[in-house]
Amino acid sequence: QAEPLVLGIETSCDECAVAVVAGRPGAARILADVVWSQIDLHEAYGGVVPEIAARAHGETIDKVAAEALDQAGVDLGALDAVAATAGPGLLGGLLVGATFGKAVARAAGLPFVAVNHLEAHVLTPRLTDGVAFPYCVALLSGGHAQFVAVIGPGDYRRLGGTIDDAAGEAFDKTAKLLGLAYPGGPAVERAARSGDPKRFDFPTPLARREGCDLSFAGLKTAVRLAAERAAPLTETDVADICASFQDAVARLLTLKAARALEAFAAEAGTAPTALVVAGGVAANGVLRAALAGVAERAGTAFVAPPLRLCTDNGAMIAYAAIERRAAGSADGIETRVRSRWPL
Ligand code: KG4
Ligand code: ZN
Repeated sequence: QAEPLVLGIETSCDECAVAVVAGRPGAARILADVVWSQIDLHEAYGGVVPEIAARAHGETIDKVAAEALDQAGVDLGALDAVAATAGPGLLGGLLVGATFGKAVARAAGLPFVAVNHLEAHVLTPRLTDGVAFPYCVALLSGGHAQFVAVIGPGDYRRLGGTIDDAAGEAFDKTAKLLGLAYPGGPAVERAARSGDPKRFDFPTPLARREGCDLSFAGLKTAVRLAAERAAPLTETDVADICASFQDAVARLLTLKAARALEAFAAEAGTAPTALVVAGGVAANGVLRAALAGVAERAGTAFVAPPLRLCTDNGAMIAYAAIERRAAGSADGIETRVRSRWPL
């Protein structure tokens, strides 16, 4: 029997993405992966505007899907399933992607798979690196900051996570405060390169609290106060604040990721095969290096998927559907989109 071939659609935020993935759990390959970013549409607002995002998804999704199928060299008849993100995310965009996917599935007589966006992020290392269960994921995105024990398909246990802002949100807010471009993560990392990480002594939130919960709100306040005190800010001030902020986040993640690995062993009864970073914040080189250090000290492999697959994409959605279908536990066409959908 030929390998399953799945179309994956992602429209939960500001990337309109469609991909074609072929294969089985732990052994799949990407035949096409088209991402149409809306960043320039939202840039002027300093954040994603839900109404603009939904409209743009609606105007682009058919072209992005056609391009993905074209690049993969397959037509609808060759597919085995159509998958789309059904949450969590912005409702308008989710409706566009899921409704488009359901329509395509119906027209082509194919099963539809409703995918949880977070599940897709945490399963990505199996697509990119064939990582074996169980493993530990640091999911750090624009909407999330949590450590997850990925025990098996459909079995995800939250070890700890943010009690306030998401990791990417902290970067985005810091950038906004300093007048840097949107999205904030890449802008802060760029500015930090020429900065002094020791100039500002920003706090390590929740350092004394047990476990691996995270917090970024206090850090954001510290950044705001430092910026106010140093105003008017020179380019050097901005670079130093960014470098010090990033250094504080790295310290926080270093401390808490080490604890997450301990919590993992207690939860799973075994050590993880790897510590994996997922989500858009994984693009950050300094944070990656910090987490790689934690894994090394724990004697665990470290996996950071290629940047393109750390940020939102259709391939991870198609792949999550392959995993769920193989496990016989996929959500189907009756699944409704939802803005909140915990792992
Ligand atoms: O996973 P993602 O593409 O979207 C979701 O939230 O699902 O993550 C986007 C987030 C944004 O907050 C962005 O600022 C952050 O990832 N990000 C970064 C970097 N690149 C993107 N944060 C820190 N450093 C980066 N280099
Ligand atoms: Zn995401």
